[in-house]
Amino acid sequence: MKNYIEISEKIEPYKKTICISGDKSISIRTVLLASQAIGKSKIYNLLEAEDVINALKCIGKLGIKYKKKRKYFEINGCGLNGYKIKGKKDLYAGNSGTLARLILGLLININKEIKILGDKSLSKRDFSRVTDPLRLFGAVITANNKKLPVKIFGSSFLRPVKYKENLGSAQCKSAVMLASLKAPGVTRIKAKKSRDHTELMFKSLKIPIKIKKTKTHDFIEIEGLNNFRGFNYIVPGDISSSSFFIVLTLLANKSKLIIKNINVNKTRTGIVEILKKMGANISFKNKRLYKGEATADIFVESCSDIKSINCPESLNSSAIDEFLVIFLVAAKAKGVSTFRNLGELNKKESPRLDIAVKILKKIGIKVLRNKDNIKILGQPNLILKKKIIIKDFKKDHRVFMMSCVAALAFGGKWKINNSDSVKTSFPDFFKVIKSVGAKINWKKIKKKLL
Ligand code: S3P
Repeated sequence: MKNYIEISEKIEPYKKTICISGDKSISIRTVLLASQAIGKSKIYNLLEAEDVINALKCIGKLGIKYKKKRKYFEINGCGLNGYKIKGKKDLYAGNSGTLARLILGLLININKEIKILGDKSLSKRDFSRVTDPLRLFGAVITANNKKLPVKIFGSSFLRPVKYKENLGSAQCKSAVMLASLKAPGVTRIKAKKSRDHTELMFKSLKIPIKIKKTKTHDFIEIEGLNNFRGFNYIVPGDISSSSFFIVLTLLANKSKLIIKNINVNKTRTGIVEILKKMGANISFKNKRLYKGEATADIFVESCSDIKSINCPESLNSSAIDEFLVIFLVAAKAKGVSTFRNLGELNKKESPRLDIAVKILKKIGIKVLRNKDNIKILGQPNLILKKKIIIKDFKKDHRVFMMSCVAALAFGGKWKINNSDSVKTSFPDFFKVIKSVGAKINWKKIKKKLL
């Protein structure tokens, strides 16, 4: 049985305040680090989405006890050598590249064979980007033509590494950072800028870490074999999930939205910088710092005069998961918007650049593509009346939610497949979108959408 939804009414003007569930990147990191701490950790507002639940199940299979309490998740770590495994083990990462790649870093000292598996989409993604550097520590790792299943056989004789991370991938950087905890001596990483949640958590856990920053790269040094204690963490709201609502509000008529308590770490707020350059009125209020992470309430209102953008490549990494919705804003902008060097988008849960171009063309927007660069010819007066079917997007949660925003903002009669995909990152998506007034029909079908 496949589930799909129908949207055939544009969103009406709204003035609302909403809350968004916990940040996915931070949630996965708190679970993994708590599993390696000594003693009890309490994680409040943990995102209860499939990617994070799979992280909990994985640490459970590694012998770590965890419990859901009324207000928090309790995780009982047993230190850096605390995973208990009898014989071979399979770990299932579901749809999550972050989980599969980061947990590999924590397995480099386990003297048993552990196999990492994933769903259909994750099994198509490249793992050599993490297995190559992790092998340098001394672990034996094999893959299926660079893809899952990946088997790792750790070692008791590890060495620290020197590693250059050139993709701007926080997953690669973080996998090596987690592995460095297990190796004696100092691991040195030169990493192209990417989200820095792992660094901030290491600092707040007093793990010996030194960071020097330049405009384009961070130089990180971590001294291994230092146990750390269990901790409390309150996970802030997710800016990536918020982005669907930021863009919906921008594109809607005469609407205003406040999104409470969202993580606005500078390595994540590329979308806000980009949208402001396009003329959006977005502001952060009630800004505060929590364990190094900036948090704020986001204020946004409709914009009837969107400008095109020549998007600086330096913002690619800090907006990496938000380009799908940024493209929708470019579709409504006056003039031609240019985005460059977005090859990494095609390495996500689905080939997002290819799929976004197809969806934009489907709604009548001209897109010029030259390899990983695109130009979007905006139509400020875009109004859709036709039928639009969105399917074959590898159940990518973000493609599904982007399509919902497009339907509500542009009009037309939409059928969007795989509504269950929201469970990957944002199970409350429908609840929140209904609270701002969206009218959605749920359908169940036995056969494929036409
Ligand atoms: C993530 C990093 C990003 C992002 C992903 C989450 C993380 O991937 O796309 O959704 O939590 O580290 P890359 O680091 O591979 O760019």
